[in-house]
Amino acid sequence: MRTCLNLTEIPEGDPVKVHAGDQLVVLVRIGRKVWAISPYCPHKGADIWKGDVINEKIRCYLHGYIYDLNTGRPVFVPYPEKYGKWRETGNLVEFPVSEEGEQVCVTISGPSQ
Ligand code: FES
Repeated sequence: MRTCLNLTEIPEGDPVKVHAGDQLVVLVRIGRKVWAISPYCPHKGADIWKGDVINEKIRCYLHGYIYDLNTGRPVFVPYPEKYGKWRETGNLVEFPVSEEGEQVCVTISGPSQ
C-alpha cells in the first residue's frame, strides 16, 4: 500500500495519522525530513502520535520513553532497573518514505501491523 501527501499537509513537529490502505501510519515532519512510523508505542502500545517531537526524537506521552526517529531505538527510559520486564521496549516500527517533488510517499508492504 502506498499513500502520498503534500509536505504542507504535515504540520512541522506535530505528528499526524494517515491511512495507507487499511494501515494506519503516523507521519512526523521536521523541515523537509519526514518519518513514517507505526501509531503504537513499542513499550505498551499507547498512541505515539499524541507524544512530543523533540529534535529528531519522539517522546511517548504515557510513560515518557523517548525514541530516535532515525534509528527507531529507545534513547531514554525513565524507569529504574527495578521495574524489570515491565520497562522493556522494542524499537519504533518505521516505514520507507520517499520524496517526490513537494510530495512525500509512504510505502507499506506485508500484513497490517
Ligand atoms: S506506552 Fe509509550 S512509553 Fe509506555
